[in-house]
Amino acid sequence: KEIAETIVDPKAYAAFQPIEDAFRALRADSPLDVAEVEGFDPFWVVTRQADIREVELKNELFHNGDRSTVLTTIEADRKVRAMMGGSPHLVRSLVQMDNPDHANYRRLTQGYFAPQNLRPLEDRVREIARGFVDRMAAHGDRCDFAKDVAFLYPLHVIMEVLGVPEADEPRMLKLTQELFGSADPELNRSQGQVGDTDQALANIQGTVADFIAYFNEMTEDRRRNPRGDLASIIANGQIEGQPLGHLEAMSYYIIAATAGHDTTSSTTAGALWALAENPAQFKKVKEDPSLIKGLIEESIRWETPVKHFMRTATEDTELAGKKIAKGDWLFLSYPSGNRDEAVFDNPYDFDVTRTPNKHVAFGYGAHVCLGQHLGRMEMRVLWEELLPRLESVEMDGPGRRMEASFVCGPKSVPIRFKMH
Ligand code: HEM
Repeated sequence: KEIAETIVDPKAYAAFQPIEDAFRALRADSPLDVAEVEGFDPFWVVTRQADIREVELKNELFHNGDRSTVLTTIEADRKVRAMMGGSPHLVRSLVQMDNPDHANYRRLTQGYFAPQNLRPLEDRVREIARGFVDRMAAHGDRCDFAKDVAFLYPLHVIMEVLGVPEADEPRMLKLTQELFGSADPELNRSQGQVGDTDQALANIQGTVADFIAYFNEMTEDRRRNPRGDLASIIANGQIEGQPLGHLEAMSYYIIAATAGHDTTSSTTAGALWALAENPAQFKKVKEDPSLIKGLIEESIRWETPVKHFMRTATEDTELAGKKIAKGDWLFLSYPSGNRDEAVFDNPYDFDVTRTPNKHVAFGYGAHVCLGQHLGRMEMRVLWEELLPRLESVEMDGPGRRMEASFVCGPKSVPIRFKMH
């Protein structure tokens, strides 16, 4: 019971170690079991990587969209479902869809996110990265890497992807802060803590409404003047011969803007934190830039910024010898899958030379992260620009993590460094 309460507790994710301990214990003693936590419907906790992959592969048997894809309280779940049914302000996004809608909507932008098609974007991403590295150098010998670099860099990249002008950065920041997952009170994210549903939902609805106007205008503009950005693809996209409705286009903008931000920020901040605490790893990757790829995969595994997604069983079935009933809810723990002793040697070591590195931080199967190549590219470019200039780095006080249980990571990484 105590472990079940830990894995839904935002404070445990902020403290990090309780989560590592809770999932280590579950994998050893009870790798697939039902958690009963007050306020939530019972849910299966899926902790082993092989079981997570099996659930994700069987996407007809385990649906995303029957109910919220994120763990919510019974009360929040009821309200969200009512709003989804009755409100013009919320439509399902890609992660909440199942086939045939999911395949149709995903196909629309899959080409844009393919590695070969991201190449033209790389020069502009490099310019953005250089700007942030210069800003870091301008701080002298101390900065908060999470706040000063890692948090804003992916926002600027995703704005470039969508075609949002720099001048609108504050509005985009508001959207990503208020709409997506993180409930950390210090960051003023008005989504509110789990349980604070009235306020949270009112705020989300208000934010979404604000942005409908913004993105509607953008859609109209791209219909008249298509460019090479994602907004143009979305605005001119068709599903089964019909143009995308305004709300469907909106939900696409929102998922791209939000999914592409906190995830990459958290991973980037977590990577520098890990390097500052592991000088031998820093030395390795500095001396051998071919290890940047290893640094990226290891920091994604290490940080695992998406802490879970939920699935709902569409039929009675079996998983790892347990009977799952139609309608049962499953909590896929990516952090647990990424420490699975059956997959990784020394899973609690941060090792940039780890090969292979078969993590599940991007999920798996039909819903596997659509932006994974973009995320990898922007992190690679940042490290290619930063590492040659960064002579030394160490922590300058304790790092701190967000209090949240969905998408989260470090919120403060104070460092002392030498740069040229
Ligand atoms: C889905 C992680 C960066 C866009 C997902 C999922 C995870 C994830 C775990 C759910 C996968 C599943 O259910 O199997 C991450 C991580 C990132 C990252 C760890 C960075 C380190 C990005 C970026 C974008 C993006 C840069 C760009 C827009 C999306 C979208 C989906 C998604 C659109 C929904 C895909 C679908 O349901 O078909 N991501 N993500 N992500 N991600 Fe990412």
